[in-house]
Amino acid sequence: MRGKPKEEREAVELDLLMEGIRRVYGYDLREYERASVSRRVQSHLQATGTRSITALLEKILHDPEEMKTFLGNLLVGVTTMFRDPDLFRAIRETVVPLLHTYPSVRIWHAGCATGEEVYSMAILLWEEGVLDKTHIYATDISEASLTRARRGTFPLRKLSEYARHYREAGGQGDFASYCEIEDDTVTFAPFLGRQLVFSEHNLATDTSFNEFHVIFCRNVLIYFSQSLQDRVHDLFYQSLPLLGFLILGDKESIRFSKHEDCYEPWSGQEKLYRKLR
Ligand SMILES: C[S@@+](CC[C@H](N)C(=O)[O-])C[C@H]1O[C@@H](n2cnc3c(N)ncnc32)[C@H](O)[C@@H]1O
Repeated sequence: MRGKPKEEREAVELDLLMEGIRRVYGYDLREYERASVSRRVQSHLQATGTRSITALLEKILHDPEEMKTFLGNLLVGVTTMFRDPDLFRAIRETVVPLLHTYPSVRIWHAGCATGEEVYSMAILLWEEGVLDKTHIYATDISEASLTRARRGTFPLRKLSEYARHYREAGGQGDFASYCEIEDDTVTFAPFLGRQLVFSEHNLATDTSFNEFHVIFCRNVLIYFSQSLQDRVHDLFYQSLPLLGFLILGDKESIRFSKHEDCYEPWSGQEKLYRKLR
């Protein structure tokens, strides 16, 4: 009997893997962009010396630790301080003056990974005198990333790169003054963490938990299917007041989402939107 070609068999294996994970752990990977999931599964197989997707499924079904490792490899947690410095410069120059006029400010970083974007914002708000009246909620699906984010540390070898991003983003001070260095680890000064709350939140299944003046969701939606992107845009639309700001990643856009007409690009920045209706 002749079977199906290799690619088709792998497609079946991938479907079974996603179904198994959904039923046993509740994560619906069918909602993630399939080509990206497939690439990451292959690199996980190589990295762990696992023979096939079916062998991976067997391990995952019987061992939650294996699931944790797999999820860690699947979720792209790449981030950096002041990522896209021009965007942070635009926030400093055009959004912060408005935040000054509010009695208190709530900001949500959805998909915050290990927290670099959140600490960037804390530094910027501190310098502009707004941090003390701001509550920053930072969420992610990955508990491992959140644990690192709460610690507020990064490797010393990244210090000069982060300092450069900070200056490119309009920072005028000394980036190192926000850091405490011990051996090869840098920890953010404790006052930066005072207004931050990190917690687990799954954009695919959880509801909104507050109303926010500014929502960041950068470099997360690119990994989602169109239907999941629609769900998340609904969530953000419900979580923003009129004239609230939505901030997306460099390769993401509000265009073609069903709320496209409800936002306007803000101050010539394509990834910074204001809710109009
Ligand atoms: C590439 S990082 C983006 C980090 C940061 N926003 C930035 O732009 O530098 C993507 C993050 O999205 C998170 N993520 C993936 N699926 C998610 C979901 N369903 N709900 C919440 N976060 C999710 C991943 O765990 C990862 O930390």
